[in-house]
Amino acid sequence: MRRPELIRTIAELRARLAPHRRAGSIIGLTPTMGALHAGHGRLIEQARRDCDIVVVSIFVNPIQFNQAADYQRYPRDLDADLEFCAARGVDYVFAPPEEEMYPAPLDTCVEVARLTDHLCGPHRPGHFRGVTTVCTKLFMIVQPDKAYFGEKDAQQLAVIQRMVRDLNIPVEIVPVPTVRESDGLALSSRNLLLSPGGRRAAAGIYRALQAAETALAAGTREAAAVQKAALEVLAAHPEIRVEYLQVVDAVEMQPVPVVEGPVRVAVAAWVDDTRLIDNILWRP
Ligand code: PAJ
Repeated sequence: MRRPELIRTIAELRARLAPHRRAGSIIGLTPTMGALHAGHGRLIEQARRDCDIVVVSIFVNPIQFNQAADYQRYPRDLDADLEFCAARGVDYVFAPPEEEMYPAPLDTCVEVARLTDHLCGPHRPGHFRGVTTVCTKLFMIVQPDKAYFGEKDAQQLAVIQRMVRDLNIPVEIVPVPTVRESDGLALSSRNLLLSPGGRRAAAGIYRALQAAETALAAGTREAAAVQKAALEVLAAHPEIRVEYLQVVDAVEMQPVPVVEGPVRVAVAAWVDDTRLIDNILWRP
């Protein structure tokens, strides 16, 4: 098992990647904030299958956290992450210090409108601007042929796909399905922050999405009825505080009153002091 090369600076990463690019190698990037788990693993494994050179970035991006406390307590464990990447044949781990990515306050940002108007957008002001800005920087730094994003963060995926299309960024965005625990809870670095009771209750989030799926499969088309089926499940769990639960079209992330095409049922909920999100895709 060869440990990946740990790279801290933009200049060094560019210098390492240049010969690979000249040789015509396909370069894949998996952007992460670390505390790597099997969800990230699925993205990395897909990149390893598709690409000659695999870069994983690990950077807890301060500008996408709209709450300082959430940024402070975000789990960090670089040694474990390096082991994790080594086991999956990653070539380079790019883990820049904050000053390397943000040497001075930014006067420039990238913002995707409309697709950020609903779901997490209004609840986390500035969050998507932080995500799209850091991903643009990572795309400019790594210049990957392909970049891997999880469907677990479906709105983020849609926003990145739109950004790449709108700005003609020459990277293929590859979506990867959500990895779940055996009880259905979507893997997330934030699951580490849950109490044992909170962790048990959190499985209710996916059961609620499954109830929505059952309603859709049974022919329910009014979004309000789908929503009601899911909220009934969540109501049985006083530990779960729902922030939103919405039915949106799967491309534009706009709420739909009636399900006519592919939709995502998306939920954000608080368990203990931790905010969890999840979604399912449904095609008529
Ligand atoms: P992070 O939360 O570390 O997630 C990195 C990538 O892993 C994202 O594309 C996310 O959708 C994917 N992922 C997380 N949990 C998953 C799961 N259970 N199944 C499948 N994929 C999963 O998302 C971010 O970091 C940041 O916003 C980032 C894109 C790195 C920008 O800072």
